[in-house]
Amino acid sequence: MKFAIIGLGGWVNYGHLPALNELGIKVDYCVDIDEKRVKDFSQKTGCKGYTDYKEMLASENPDIVLIAVPHGLHAKIALDALNNDANVYVEKPMATSLQEALSLVDTARKRNRILVVGHEFRFEQPSMITKKLIKDLGNIYHIRGLYIRQRGIPTSITFIKKDLAKGGVIFDLATHIIDLIMFFTNFPTPRTVKAKIHYAFSKDKTKFSSYPSPNLPNSDVEVEDSGSAFIDLGEISAYVEVSWASYIKENKREIVILGDKGGIHIENNALYYMRNIADEFFISNPLIQQRGSVYREVWSSLFNAIAKGETRPPFPFCTAEQGAINVAILESIYKSAFEGREVKVEIPSYLIELARSSLITT
Ligand SMILES: NC(=O)c1ccc[n+]([C@@H]2O[C@H](COP(=O)([O-])OP(=O)(O)OC[C@H]3O[C@@H](n4cnc5c(N)ncnc54)[C@H](O)[C@@H]3O)[C@@H](O)[C@H]2O)c1
Repeated sequence: MKFAIIGLGGWVNYGHLPALNELGIKVDYCVDIDEKRVKDFSQKTGCKGYTDYKEMLASENPDIVLIAVPHGLHAKIALDALNNDANVYVEKPMATSLQEALSLVDTARKRNRILVVGHEFRFEQPSMITKKLIKDLGNIYHIRGLYIRQRGIPTSITFIKKDLAKGGVIFDLATHIIDLIMFFTNFPTPRTVKAKIHYAFSKDKTKFSSYPSPNLPNSDVEVEDSGSAFIDLGEISAYVEVSWASYIKENKREIVILGDKGGIHIENNALYYMRNIADEFFISNPLIQQRGSVYREVWSSLFNAIAKGETRPPFPFCTAEQGAINVAILESIYKSAFEGREVKVEIPSYLIELARSSLITT
C-alpha cells in the first residue's frame, strides 16, 4: 500500500513517526509547503518529497494519507484525498465547520473509503477499560472533562494564527475531551450548548509557551486560550473546561463519569473506579496505563483493516460521522460564546444514527 503524509510538523515527527518506524511502515511520499521540512523528512525516511499536495495526489495515487496540517486546512485536503480514492487519517478536528464535515462524511461513503479522525485517546488503556466498565455504573447522569495546562500556548502559527487555525484551544483540546465524552456515552443526541471563551494570555505568549522555541512565531496569539462549555445531552449533563495556559497547580487531563450505581475518574493516565461492593463504598487502586505507544496500535489496526479491504473504520477509531458530530458541538461552542447565549446544536438525525451504529457493529 502506498502511504503519504501531508504536513511534516511537530506531531508527525514526534507523535506518529516513531510508531510507524517501530511497525516497519514505510512512508512513500511526504508533502509540506516548507521545502526544508520536506528535505529533512525525505532524508530521514527515504520518502519522495513534494511541496504541493495536489501534485502528489495526482502523480502518486496513494492508498492511505495522513493529514496533519493547520485545522483550517483539514477538510479541504481530506476531501481532495478522498476524491483521489485514498483512505484518510485526518488529525483532529476533522473540519472547522459542520458543513465541511458533512461533505467528508458523504464523500467517504460514496467512495467507499475509510476516513478516521485523530482522536487517539480512545486507544489509551483507561479509555478502553472505561468503555467496558461504564455499563456497570447504572444510569449515567453527569460527565465532565478537563484538559488544562499551566504553560502550553503553542508557538507554531498552525495553532495561533486565525486564518490557519480558525479557532484556538477549543479546536485543539476541547475536541479531544468531547470525543471521549461522546464515545463513553454512546453518542447521545446533543441538544444545547452554553459556552464562554477567553483570550487571557494573548499578549504574553513568550511567558506562557512551554515549548522550547528559539524562533518565536511571527504572529500574535489571535485565537482563544481557554474556554468552558456546558453541553445538554438529554438525560446526561456534560461539562468541558480547557486551557492552554492558566495559574493552576498542575497540568491536568481528567474525565469524571457519574452514574447512579458507580463512578469512574480518569486522571492523567490513571483510572479509579468507585461503586458499592458488599454495602461498602469501594474505590479501586489506580489502574495506571502501561507504557507503550498508542500510535502503534492505531497504525497497525488501520493498515490491517485497509489491507483486508474493509471500508469502515475498525473499533475504536473515531469515524467520519462521529467526527462530524464533534465538529457540530465545537461550532455550537463558538456560536454560544460569540453570541453570549445558549444555542441549539443542529445535527441531522441520520448522522447520530450512523455514529451510534458504527459503535455497535464494531
Ligand atoms: N492527536 C493529537 O493528540 C495531536 C497532537 C498534536 C497535534 N495534532 C494535530 O496535528 C496537526 C499538526 O500539528 P503540529 O503540531 O504538527 O503543527 P506544526 O505547525 O508543527 O505542523 C504543521 C505543518 O503543516 C504544514 N502545512 C501548512 N500548510 C500546508 C499545506 N497546504 N500543505 C502541506 N503542508 C502544510 C506546515 O508547514 C507545518 O510543517 C494539527 O491538526 C494538530 O491539531 C494532534
